[in-house]
Amino acid sequence: MPQNSAAVLRALRTPFVVEPAHVPTPASDEVVVRVRAVAVNPVDWVIQGTGSVTYRWLQTPVVLGSDVAGEVVAIGSAVTRFRVGQRVFGLATGTDRGRDPQHEGAFQDHTALLERLTAPTPDDLTDEQAVVLPLGASTAACALFQERHLGLRMPGHATVDGAGGTADGDRGVVVVWGGSTSVGMNAVQLASAAGYDVVTTASPRNAELVRSLGAEVVVDHHDPHAVDALVAAIAGRRVLGAVALGTTSAAACIQVLRRTGGTVLALASTPVSLDRLAGRRRLFPAMLPVFSRLGLTMAGLMLSARRAGIRTAFIWGSSLRDDAVGPMLWGEVLPRGLADGTLRAVPEPLVLGTGLAAVQGALDRQRAGVSAQKIVVTL
Ligand SMILES: NC(=O)c1ccc[n+]([C@@H]2O[C@H](COP(=O)([O-])OP(=O)(O)OC[C@H]3O[C@@H](n4cnc5c(N)ncnc54)[C@H](OP(=O)(O)O)[C@@H]3O)[C@@H](O)[C@H]2O)c1
Repeated sequence: MPQNSAAVLRALRTPFVVEPAHVPTPASDEVVVRVRAVAVNPVDWVIQGTGSVTYRWLQTPVVLGSDVAGEVVAIGSAVTRFRVGQRVFGLATGTDRGRDPQHEGAFQDHTALLERLTAPTPDDLTDEQAVVLPLGASTAACALFQERHLGLRMPGHATVDGAGGTADGDRGVVVVWGGSTSVGMNAVQLASAAGYDVVTTASPRNAELVRSLGAEVVVDHHDPHAVDALVAAIAGRRVLGAVALGTTSAAACIQVLRRTGGTVLALASTPVSLDRLAGRRRLFPAMLPVFSRLGLTMAGLMLSARRAGIRTAFIWGSSLRDDAVGPMLWGEVLPRGLADGTLRAVPEPLVLGTGLAAVQGALDRQRAGVSAQKIVVTL
């Protein structure tokens, strides 16, 4: 009988404690994985620091984490794509409303994953390389392919209504603000693999890397003329929409779309960072000015988008669990793209330690800021 341990958040704004946990039993559509590597994401320290406001449905003690790679140790009765012993990577969605984070949280030795959000790990990828992908690729796929966002055709597929073609020869341009973020790198490579032209932003040190993922033009997001440069690069072509990553991205994307006739904006980030708030021992009263500013800034952005005829919606990176995008991404697009080289495991992992006790340091390092890297812990 395997043993399980988890990095448990016993109370918000306290460090993780490593303690024994139940080994999950797979539901019919799940696999249970012996986790060998996890990656951390901004959402993990956002929940740890502000969950009582931002993830109000979560009760402590709780197991966090979305990105998992390891090997299958048990399969549910309806699972057909995986067998015990197989190396896999996948997206754990336990922190979503209505899910069970103890059963399906990444930061433990054994966790459950839905078969439809899991893929085989290619032989040429280590677990720490594969684990960079789940939330980054899933969030990018939600932004690009879900009908409520850009609604583009997926790589190798037509759109839902079958209208994937660009008969006039104009492939259409996708704008990704934040192309060197984890989500952005995946958005660039997925949009490019689907046959669209991509214009994006990154720091100059990451421009070549983002270009190698398929971006046609990479503009420095710190340049005060970045919006002008993107508009010039689009050069009158049809803009299919923008994906906004980073606190300043929504305002910049609205300007780009307004000036180029684009009408769809997928938002991944709040326009006010929660990082300082997340590091505080007490949320009150510091949260009041932060959330007031957030509310006012959002209202201003929504108004300017509406005036420009731009449809905006917030991305929920695990919402592909409940639509056709999830099974297509995890069952077809990722396995095929990784095998034929049209997709890569990006960004590069930065392995910060081994063992569940290293998870807290990994979150702190993520919150301090990364550049085109994913913080990973091996287990
Ligand atoms: N809604 C969702 O479901 C969802 C899911 C996942 C992530 N997110 C959000 O999406 C955002 C990206 O997450 P992530 O994990 O991909 O981030 P990340 O990898 O931690 O982002 C780090 C990157 O941010 C870039 N950056 C710095 N200044 C920027 C600017 N002014 N504009 C755009 N990018 C800038 C840096 O690029 P350079 O080093 O090249 O400057 C750096 O590589 C975060 O706000 C996160 O909370 C949302």
